[in-house]
Amino acid sequence: MAAARGPLLREPPARSAIDPFIVMDVMRQAAAAEAAGRSIVHMEVGQPATPAPRAAREAVKRAIDGDNLGYTLALGMDALRERIARLYRDWYGITVAAERVVVTSGSSAAFVLGFLALFGPGDRVALPAPGYPCYRHILTALGVEPVALETGPNTRWMPTAAQIEEAATRERLAGLLIASPANPTGTMLEPERLAEICAVARRRGLWFVSDEIYHGLTWGLPQATALQFSDDVIVINSFSKYFSMTGWRVGWMVVPPGLVRTVERLAQNLYISPPAVSQVAALGAFDGLEELEANKRVYAANRELLLRELPKAGLAEIVPADGAFYLYVDVSRFTGDSLAFAKQMLDEAGVAATPGIDFDPGRGRRFVRFSYAGSTAQMAEAARRLQGWARLQA
Ligand SMILES: Cc1ncc(COP(=O)(O)O)c(C=O)c1O
Repeated sequence: MAAARGPLLREPPARSAIDPFIVMDVMRQAAAAEAAGRSIVHMEVGQPATPAPRAAREAVKRAIDGDNLGYTLALGMDALRERIARLYRDWYGITVAAERVVVTSGSSAAFVLGFLALFGPGDRVALPAPGYPCYRHILTALGVEPVALETGPNTRWMPTAAQIEEAATRERLAGLLIASPANPTGTMLEPERLAEICAVARRRGLWFVSDEIYHGLTWGLPQATALQFSDDVIVINSFSKYFSMTGWRVGWMVVPPGLVRTVERLAQNLYISPPAVSQVAALGAFDGLEELEANKRVYAANRELLLRELPKAGLAEIVPADGAFYLYVDVSRFTGDSLAFAKQMLDEAGVAATPGIDFDPGRGRRFVRFSYAGSTAQMAEAARRLQGWARLQA
């Protein structure tokens, strides 16, 4: 169903006129094609095809029968905050106090809470381009100005400490947000580069927001959290990706101790609490880590398969995919209009992918992002369809 339009009593304010999250529009088109009886391979949305781990679902079944599942504390259930804090010991060998952990409705709500706590109207916040589009759109809706830091192949599609140092003064920055592994590129910052960036942010008095939502899904480079290098950072993470729980809408952030009360007041007023049932599921998910590691092996196999098969379809210009479950592919040989190209791919090849303009309004016209979070059979089918797609035979 297309979004309804009609006359309004008063026009919405300018700040609400943000761009769409195009991937969700592609998802709608793909669903419409399926409803019309077509077979579509979904590579548009970054979400695992697998459900939440069995242990999470079992925990929910028990809670539905035995718990009233009312509001929880605004910062989340204590047991979940403590379990998340332990993850920092297990994954990175560092101690994080559970009091600093804030459970949120997906990391998406963490961005709203974090941005409101850190930035005021007119502040300027640097974001790598290409990058996850919603950062830009949420900041804009809050009256904060996003500043693009262009990245490219020479720096593994990540900003450098020198680039940030220079932009801090030139652009009068209040903050900086980086995801590593990144969406859409999948590239990562090596731990030393992350440490350098934390140091620049601290020296320059910039809030550094580190989006670590793809941690747990890395394919070679070591993963480091910004919390290893500084306590003056805001780390954002989620149960959506590694934990395979997109629809449960549960994520978290770790904030400096001095910011906890500010975030708590915002969370109480904006959301009251994250959904109780999803927090129960999230806590249960920690008993399903073996299942999650098995999912990860499927992504690794999918990645290998696509890195081998896509070049045979003519899609050979692939950004180094260090982590996450995306391949960002340069399609400039075929098009300068990735939106039209992705639509044609959906219509003619039955493969849904996301046009790069979602992530980089300028250079993204030359790129398409494929998500490989589905099954290996689906990925093989996508490769087969693309190898037979006439548009790529040119
Ligand atoms: C880099 C990045 N951050 C945040 C999100 C939001 O995820 P969620 O709100 O499901 O935690 C996504 C979703 O794709 C993402 O790719």
